[in-house]
Amino acid sequence: MKANVIVHKDFALSAIDDRIYSSFLEHLGRAIYTGIYEPGHPTADADGFRGDVIDLVRAINTPYVRYPGGNFVSAYNWEDGIGPREDRPTRLDLAWKTRDNNAVGVNEFVDWCKKAGTNPMLAINLGSRGLDAARNFVEYCNHPGGSYWSDLRRKHGWADPHNVKLWCLGNEMDGPWQVGHKTADEYGRLANETAKALRLFDRSLELIVCGSSNSDMPTYPQWEATVLEHTYDSVDHISLHMYFANVEHDTLGYLAKAEKLDRYIGTIAGVIDFIKAKKRSKRNVTISFDEWNVWYHSREADKKILEGDVWPDEPHLLEDIYNFEDVLQVGGILNTFIRRADRVKIACIAQLVNVIAPIMTEKGGPAWKQTIYYPFLYASLYGRGTALNAVVDGPTYDSAFGDDIPYLDLSAVRSTAGDALTFFVVNRHLTDSLDLSASLQGFAGARVVEHIQMTHPDLRAVNTAANPDNVAPKTVSGTIVEDGTLKSKLPPLSYNVIRLA
Ligand code: AHR
Repeated sequence: MKANVIVHKDFALSAIDDRIYSSFLEHLGRAIYTGIYEPGHPTADADGFRGDVIDLVRAINTPYVRYPGGNFVSAYNWEDGIGPREDRPTRLDLAWKTRDNNAVGVNEFVDWCKKAGTNPMLAINLGSRGLDAARNFVEYCNHPGGSYWSDLRRKHGWADPHNVKLWCLGNEMDGPWQVGHKTADEYGRLANETAKALRLFDRSLELIVCGSSNSDMPTYPQWEATVLEHTYDSVDHISLHMYFANVEHDTLGYLAKAEKLDRYIGTIAGVIDFIKAKKRSKRNVTISFDEWNVWYHSREADKKILEGDVWPDEPHLLEDIYNFEDVLQVGGILNTFIRRADRVKIACIAQLVNVIAPIMTEKGGPAWKQTIYYPFLYASLYGRGTALNAVVDGPTYDSAFGDDIPYLDLSAVRSTAGDALTFFVVNRHLTDSLDLSASLQGFAGARVVEHIQMTHPDLRAVNTAANPDNVAPKTVSGTIVEDGTLKSKLPPLSYNVIRLA
């Protein structure tokens, strides 16, 4: 099998917003408790944050972390998480059937972000609460002092404002499972009035309104059109979510779902353009894809907790153990975000630690990298700069989702300084290697710096605490540039990062 690619240094799709490498931590299962926060753990610092987890998070350089939910936020009282710990209430979380003693709240989370080299992206409860709680929350976080809420923050020990820029106006408000679920008109009006109030406080905030929970929702994509009719002039981004599964054990069909993601983004870009034209607006609303990942491995196990009445603390919920096949899927998802960098300005892998996450921990024990840690790491490290318009001519296949799915899934990124070019490439073919030939136009003298590759004889292979390096990248040789053409042989079912400079 052969695939030909042409890239030109100046044929750009779009600048890539670094925020597409953001992530998400929810008060859910063991994401916070025994994930990032575990006083008494051998690596914990004076604030109780696990140092081993901070090291793994720092390494992936994720610019923003969304918090505190997710479904959790729709019945969350942010005030429960502030002030002296001994006065904080223990609450029942309706979304995840869990008890939460609120040992971590917004101030601790902001502290953790600083230690982990990232920034907070906060979600507001527009399910059980509304505009008033939202405006108080923003004032508590961002006002320097001299008002009731800002002085309360200062009294709690945080003299400087947190200056949180990104605010999500609720979570998945189209979903009947959401506490305080609303129709598009109900939500659109509430989101617009909340956005207006927050802008009266600070015009420079970036506000994210809820789009659909996924593209199979019965209200999709009318939901986006109605919500944007209400909010177009007062928000910056519309949020989308998508999770991927391979319950059928159909690898080619599974990997084709990255194309479904592409269509989802394209459809919502069209809805945005439609409302923009209707409103005769100059404003460009963009997409915040603030929940995405593979999620299916743990669904059966979770039923016991979610359907019971036990209300455990820090339960093992949504602890998907990722396999090698998921590396290929995550690589394809990230390629899609890079190719759609003109419309997607924020994306959050959901989530970051323990809960459908690239990082796993054991209580009192080690932290380790799941298989999907690696494609996220490399995209975040080398996928910054400008997405190039790579033209790909190669073989395709038909799937249940759609036809003409390319076996070669590729994105090309020119570094910000312009002197480096990186290809992220997945060969989706089950059995055949792919001879890649890429004409490098405008990259005179480019040579291969490194070819990082992930392959494994077993698609179901996973990393565990006992065997954390079972699925890991390696550097391979044989990839060359000859007469301005990159040549490489990509093994079947492989994930590749080819770095040139
Ligand atoms: O990330 C897990 C859950 O998925 C989130 O809480 C929710 O927003 C989505 O349905």
